[in-house]
Amino acid sequence: MRAVDIIIKKRDKGELTREEIEFFVQGFVSGEVPDYQASSFAMAVLLNGMTPRETTDLTLAMAASGDTLDLSDVVELAVDKHSSGGVGDKTSLTVLPTVAACGLPIGKMSGRGLGFSGGTLDKLESIPGYRVDLTTDEFKKQLRAIGAVLTGQSLALAPADGKLYTLRDVTGTVPSIPLIASSIMCKKLAAGAQAIVLDVKVGLGAFMQTLEDARVLADLMVDIGKLAGRDVVALLSDMNQPLGHAVGNSLEVVEAIETLKGGGPHDFREHCLHVCAHLLLLGKRARDLDEGRSMAEAAMADGSAFEKFRVLVQAQGGDVSYVDDTSKFPRAKFVEVVPAPRSGNLSQIHARIVGEAAVILGGGRAKKTDAIDHAVGLLIHHKVGDTVRQGEPLFTIHASDESKLAQARAMVLPAHLFSSESVAPLPLFYR
Ligand code: URA
Repeated sequence: MRAVDIIIKKRDKGELTREEIEFFVQGFVSGEVPDYQASSFAMAVLLNGMTPRETTDLTLAMAASGDTLDLSDVVELAVDKHSSGGVGDKTSLTVLPTVAACGLPIGKMSGRGLGFSGGTLDKLESIPGYRVDLTTDEFKKQLRAIGAVLTGQSLALAPADGKLYTLRDVTGTVPSIPLIASSIMCKKLAAGAQAIVLDVKVGLGAFMQTLEDARVLADLMVDIGKLAGRDVVALLSDMNQPLGHAVGNSLEVVEAIETLKGGGPHDFREHCLHVCAHLLLLGKRARDLDEGRSMAEAAMADGSAFEKFRVLVQAQGGDVSYVDDTSKFPRAKFVEVVPAPRSGNLSQIHARIVGEAAVILGGGRAKKTDAIDHAVGLLIHHKVGDTVRQGEPLFTIHASDESKLAQARAMVLPAHLFSSESVAPLPLFYR
């Protein structure tokens, strides 16, 4: 077999065999298939698609491209969650300690932000000392000891995805349903999850822009999980406007902590409660979603969810005094409240533009090697459907320099659209 023939077959809309896919993935990981051929393959898949069978074979080949984690000696049932990526999506920071506080142990390997979408690891690194590079042994030990782990993807697990994702990011091949489905599912399968909640984002600030595409992606991932013998639930959630108010690393950690303590923005809290309920049901701690939701609400109300977060931060070497007193997080040099330019009902807050503005402020990366400024970002004070009066605070910019602040203002102001008609709020979930 030759890699070039496999690329040509996909270029010409052929259906690849399992052997061809395995050959390509193994060759890519071993270095025999160079990056330029893998990039070309990714573009052929983006343009011509893959059948569900090909996507499943690609997922299984990538999952088998490195070590796999077996958690059966650590937990009764290994649960996991994954978001397909969005703006202001700090869900793992709140959900993970909450379900752990409800007695469901959960260890998760998260990723970094790329492009306009934020990453859990970058957010966690706002807490001085927090380690995101636990070894597999440390992962297991901590999961056994405290029932919660939130760390980075081990390089030993699904290395084919790590390599391919880096190429996709710089070759315009991220928004491909088979490539996203296989990228997400191979990591979950390799990390030993038996029950998985997938949070598939749809809308302006997501990789899937339409409900139809998000449904196809979700169904595909559920089917791949089932074929691999896992229990999978996929939620389709809104990503047209940012989730919660905060977009930017330490600002999001503060919002996640407020939510863990029973406060936080209404939409973000509801989103987290819903994801918690599904995890508690899949993890067999709750009999139904209502019970799961009540358990999560109780953990936020009685302080146990927040306490679990403290214990988690401490276990991973983070300075817990920042969690106890969030005013310790460094404040950006320039903080500007931008007033509403007119009165009206908000009909759009373009999530992608807000995410891009946060990157320009320094909260994300334009290139994988860029450093992150954890203090910068935005607080978006309103939601679609809100009635706003001229002059009242619309959003707040946290910036490290005045020119970036001006750039962010120029982007985020027109990202807010006003209507004189009444506007219905956006749903949190579509399915
Ligand atoms: N998240 C992933 O892990 N992979 C993708 O391809 C897209 C989002």
